[in-house]
Order: sequence, then C-alpha cells, then structure tokens
Amino acid sequence: MTDVFPASLTDGHNERQLALQSLFRTLEDNSEGTVIVDEQCKIVWINARYADRFGFKDPATAMGKAVEEVIPQSQLREVLRTGQPILLDLMEAPDRTLVVTRLPLKDPQGKLIGAIGFALFDEIQSLAPLVAKFSSLQKELAVAHESLAQARRAKYSLGHFIGECDAVQELKRQALRAAQRDAPILLLGETGTGKEVLAHAIHAASPRAHKPLVTLNMAAIPETLLEAELFGASAGAYTGADKKGRIGKFQLAHGGTLFLDEIGDMPPALQVKLLRVLQDKEFEALGSNQIQRSDVRIIAATSAPLARLIAEGQFRADLFYRLNVLTIELPPLRARLADLTLLADSMMNKLAASGLGQHRLAPSAIALLTQYSWPGNVRELHNILERALMLCDKAILEAEDLTPLLYPGTQPSHSSAKTHAESMQAFEQQLISDAIKNCNGHIPTAARQLGLARATLYKKIAGFKPDK
Ligand SMILES: Nc1ncnc2c1ncn2[C@@H]1O[C@H](COP(=O)(O)OP(=O)(O)OP(=O)(O)O)[C@@H](O)[C@H]1O
Ligand SMILES: [Mg+2]
Repeated sequence: MTDVFPASLTDGHNERQLALQSLFRTLEDNSEGTVIVDEQCKIVWINARYADRFGFKDPATAMGKAVEEVIPQSQLREVLRTGQPILLDLMEAPDRTLVVTRLPLKDPQGKLIGAIGFALFDEIQSLAPLVAKFSSLQKELAVAHESLAQARRAKYSLGHFIGECDAVQELKRQALRAAQRDAPILLLGETGTGKEVLAHAIHAASPRAHKPLVTLNMAAIPETLLEAELFGASAGAYTGADKKGRIGKFQLAHGGTLFLDEIGDMPPALQVKLLRVLQDKEFEALGSNQIQRSDVRIIAATSAPLARLIAEGQFRADLFYRLNVLTIELPPLRARLADLTLLADSMMNKLAASGLGQHRLAPSAIALLTQYSWPGNVRELHNILERALMLCDKAILEAEDLTPLLYPGTQPSHSSAKTHAESMQAFEQQLISDAIKNCNGHIPTAARQLGLARATLYKKIAGFKPDK
C-alpha cells in the first residue's frame, strides 16, 4: 500500500494537521463556548464568551480552577475517566440549555492529557425535532409504565366479593385476618367460586397493597416455559430464550404478592423449586447461579382435588403442608343459595350498565335458579344471566326464559329438521352436562372423564347455545 500511495500519505499527514487546526478554529469561532482542561480536570483555557456565561467576567480568573467550579454541570471529568468522547449532549447553563460536545485530548503516543468541551449552539432550536421526538418517546414510555403498574394492581377489593350468608361473612373475616399476615395463603374451591376475586381482594387489604400483584396461571403456560416464567432466565439460558434474558414473576412481584393460580397443575419438578423458595426465601434464575432474595407473599389457588393429587403422587405433600398454612375454602354456589338473588341483582345491574337494559327476576325464575346445581358456580350464574338478557327483552324474566339456558337439550324441539351439525352439537351438550352432573359439578374431573383438556371443556361450556 505504501508503495502505491506514498505521496498521498505524506501529503495526507500535512493536510490532516491543517484540517485539525482549521476545524478547531471554526468550532472556536462559531461555538458558543470552548473550554480545555488538563488531566487533573483543571481549566487551562476558556474563551471569554463562555467564561462570561458562567459569571466570570475575566476568563483569566477561571484558569486553574476545577472545571465544575466554573461550569457546574460539566462532564469533562467523565471524559477523562473513560477516555471516551461524549459527542452530543444537553447541558443546563444558568439561563438556558446548551448543546455540547466533549472530546478527550491525547498526545501523539495516545496518552490522555486533557479534554476539550464545545458548546455548539446557545439555541437548542436547531435540535427541536430531535428533542420533540425524545420527549414524545418519553411520554409513551411513561404511559406504558403506568399501564403496566395498573395491570399489576388489584382489580377487586373485598367489597366486590358479593355475599352476605354466614359462610361468606366468615370467609371475609378469614380473608382479612390472612391479609395481615405474610404466610402463604391457599384458596380452595370449585371452579367459578371467586378464588381470583378473593386473591385480588386479599392483596388489596394487605400491607403489600401498594406493591405489585402478579399472577401466574400454571394451567395456561406450557410446562417447559413455566420455570423461566416463574424465576426468570439469564440471557441464552435455554434455546429460544430472549437474548436479554427474561424477568421472572418472582422478580416482578418483589415486595408484593404472587398469585399462583391452578397450583394443582404445577409440574412436580417445579413444585420442588417452589418449596425451596418458600423455605429459604431465595431463588435462582434459569441459567444463572446468582442467588436472589425473594420478598413475595404467595397466594395459591386451585379447584383440583389436592388430596387426591397427593395420593396419586402428582402433588407433593411437603409443598402442600407449606402452602396449607392459611387455607380458605370458598363454598360452592349451591351451598349458599341465600346469596343467589343478591348476586343476580348485582350482576343484572352491571349488565344493565353495559347496555343490556334493566331486568328483574320473577319469583318463578328465582325458584328455578335455586333448584339448579350450579356446577360452574358464580361464573355460570353470570353467563346464564348475560345470555338471558341478550336473548330476552322482557323486563321481568320468568322461569320459562331461563329453562332452555339451564337445561339445554331437554326442551322439546319444535323445529323438526335439524342439521347434522345441530344434532351433533345438541348431543355434545347433553354429554357434557351429564358428565358435569355426574362429577357433582367438578369441571376438572368431568374433563378428565370425558378425555378433554380442561381449557377445552371450559370453551365448550362457554359456547353452549340454548336449544330452541
Ligand atoms: N362472590 C362473588 N361476587 C361477585 N362476583 C363473583 C363472586 N365470585 C365469583 N364472581 C365472578 O365470577 C367469575 C368467576 O370468578 P373467579 O374467576 O374468581 O373464579 P375462580 O374460583 O377463580 O374460578 P376458576 O377455578 O375457574 O379459575 C368472575 O367473573 C367473578 O367476577
Ligand atoms: Mg381462577
């Protein structure tokens, strides 16, 4: 290379010197200020305009001072520390914001001998588009943070748990007492009995209320991802892991409450790890050997028959004993029929507010609801009422308006010609409602009996249409 371009290289060297001198002069002439410090970060040169801006009428009086004594916000010391330039930055000066560039100064051997700072404009006007973009991004970030925080706050308080019967009053007393303690809470009850509502309410009533409430549903996440979801993962901890790693629910819930829903579905290997966290108050992210302290109150919930899962070896007895400290059992709806009208009224009021019109239940409708077994509990009551209001515009609902919703398939069919699809659906509805009744309304057991995934069964139940 040197053979090919010897002349241009030597020339280049001279041009470089010239260019440097010219560049410095141009910056000096056009910039609002220039300051040079030595390796001690003491000012060795400052132009008059710049010194004046910081209250030094005579630049000579600023010489030899530590740069911060003259320019309080200066970052030249940082440039000396790192040896790296700060090419563009905003700096607050007494009466305005300056745009500044800071460069390290090195001798020909590359040794750091000082640093130079230019204040390029005294009007940040020219940067307005950049600044506007920055502040709009910052606003978006603030909104995102806020909505995340919102999502991690409790959605319900104890007032949202409707019910006045003795069992519910006792349950609320237990919940309040448990809220004040820090031990794990176990919520047991059939599907739709309000375990999630109660978990939120307990968090809201606890001293941790102003900290996050984070939920992890064991049944909703593939087994292979659960550990990383729970404890986090360091970068590249497993194939397909995020490059930056993953923050686990334990970290997100730090200081607050972690709601472990469907705990009966937790894989045994993970049960061991959860048990360790409960005992030692410590955990490690996947692929990391750094031990992190856990400050999290656990609320676990399940509708699965834990005793049977333990007997079958699917749930660890030792974990059960750890969780079973403050246990609250939620009664099924059929065991608290006294609250049925209260619940129905409150739901119909809410549905009215959402645009479905004001309705009431006739005594015959109440009688019918009281006879029903409610395998899906309060959730099912809500679904039935919602569908009744959508299908019927009478202000007062009679038993006959509800029967087809409660007992689909049992109504005599008036339309003689059913399609194959309709018949199959009617058959399936019958099959499922029989299975649910056989299992005393216990959906997970019914799902097992039918050989369906629980989520699939829920979806099918939610999709049931009245057979008219
Ligand atoms: N006591 C109650 N007062 C008011 N609404 C309730 C009550 N219990 C349950 N609900 C309502 O019923 C629905 C189901 O409640 P929730 O999700 O808490 O049940 P769950 O016990 O967690 O059920 P699953 O075991 O199926 O997860 C929700 O819409 C909830 O608002
Ligand atoms: Mg739930």
